[in-house]
Amino acid sequence: PSVLILNGPNLNLLGTRQPDVYGTTTLADIETMCQETARKLGLSIAFEQSNHEGAMIEQIHAAKGTYDAILINAGAYTHTSVAIRDAIAAVELPTVEVHLSNIHARETFRHTSYISGVAVGMICGFGAKGYTMALDALSERLASL
Ligand code: DQA
Repeated sequence: PSVLILNGPNLNLLGTRQPDVYGTTTLADIETMCQETARKLGLSIAFEQSNHEGAMIEQIHAAKGTYDAILINAGAYTHTSVAIRDAIAAVELPTVEVHLSNIHARETFRHTSYISGVAVGMICGFGAKGYTMALDALSERLASL
């Protein structure tokens, strides 16, 4: 099975971006962790990042027929993008939402996610570990389909 891991805006800055909130782990570190976990689980993954909403939507469209599932950290688009939600709903691939920080313990505007309603589940607050937790859960879900 294969999983598209899609990271949204500003996540390319991880490591130096608000380390008090997001830690010092870089996106490259997270990719390495995901590759390691995927290898153990027998998954193949693609790891992508974009600062552009439309580009993310096109990556979601292209995932249909190419990947079996999506792991998405849509960054701030989580709280604004009906279009990304609609793209996920359209491709009908099992999708897990991940956030490094606990969005519910932060500003009120981060408490609403447009993604959650079309996701299989959501993991937040565990930093980079959330990505490998999500891969683990997706792997089980894909095996039982
Ligand atoms: C984030 C949480 C979002 O609110 C924020 O805009 C991000 C990162 C997280 O991983 O904790 O860019 O998705």
